[in-house]
Amino acid sequence: SRNIRLGVIAGDGIGPEVVAEGLKVLDVIAGQYDLTIEKTAYDLGAARWHRTGEVLPESVIEEIRGQEAILLGAIGDPTVPSGTLERGLLLRLRFELDHYVNLRPVKLLPGVKSPLADVTPEDIDMIVVREGTEGPYTGVGGVLRKGTPHEVATQESVNTAFGAERVIRYAFQIAATRPRRKLTLVHKDNVLTFAGDLWQRTLKKVAAEFPDVATDYVHVDAATMFFVNNPQRFDVVVTDNLFGDIITDIGAAIAGGIGLAASGNVNPDRSVPSMFEPVHGSAPDIAGQAKADPTATILSVAMLLDHLGLPEAARKIEKAVGEDLTERTGPRSTQQVGDDIAKRVAG
Ligand code: IPM
Ligand code: MN
Repeated sequence: SRNIRLGVIAGDGIGPEVVAEGLKVLDVIAGQYDLTIEKTAYDLGAARWHRTGEVLPESVIEEIRGQEAILLGAIGDPTVPSGTLERGLLLRLRFELDHYVNLRPVKLLPGVKSPLADVTPEDIDMIVVREGTEGPYTGVGGVLRKGTPHEVATQESVNTAFGAERVIRYAFQIAATRPRRKLTLVHKDNVLTFAGDLWQRTLKKVAAEFPDVATDYVHVDAATMFFVNNPQRFDVVVTDNLFGDIITDIGAAIAGGIGLAASGNVNPDRSVPSMFEPVHGSAPDIAGQAKADPTATILSVAMLLDHLGLPEAARKIEKAVGEDLTERTGPRSTQQVGDDIAKRVAG
């Protein structure tokens, strides 16, 4: 039997509710594939901050480094100053664990109604490879003359040749395995000329290693429009951290909503834990009411299994989710959706 050390960060709001359902499904898979899941729950998020003032102690980071993967629910709470947990916990983990690939599939699953007219699952089937450790997320910048009418706030976008190259290469590798073999760079090189030029040159350089992959380029503003009126034009998209954040919310919307969007914060070096989480946030307005859809978390568990080299188990979860979506009728509680999907996985 294979043992998997799994760090679990349920987090805030609906996080614990959806994570419980993800683990429910994972436990069924474990039984079927002879896995033991050695779970370690980390008490991180708003509650800990209120209790102790701590966001992510160094000792906890070190413990987390020893995990093979992390399942995260959601981080953020209106009672905590904005940014404290987002920067101090979520982004800190992405940076410390060097999750330079933020994988976000945008896929219309069978049975799901897209807000776009007349689209079928064939029309919306892309994967966004969002850079995860650079761009405007690094916290470089500052504020001058704060609180005065002459306040100046700068927030710089950091783009390194190393950072762009490694994420672009990863995106090419994914594109090379897909039938359409197309990679689109999304940026804003007509305005962000320094960074855009670096990304463009890097795309061209790495493209030489992948002669079978076609490449193209779309400005980010146009990309938001194409997501809505021509999603067919995308197969694999590679983009920087902030553009990727924005377009994947649009992606989630066109593919049936944030309740279904899964993601992986990936470091392809398997000796470092990658972290899988639903794209949605902590939704404090519906927390504790069993209203949250755990599907995004369950699909994130499938991505986690893929990452750990268990693609068959991952496909099994995706199939069960697909069937569940196809047969959805009235509203169900968070637990009920988890039970229904777990039952299908159990077969
Ligand atoms: C996401 C979230 C985060 C991000 C926030 C909560 C820091 O929006 O995972 O998309 O901007 O990356
Ligand atoms: Mn986001």
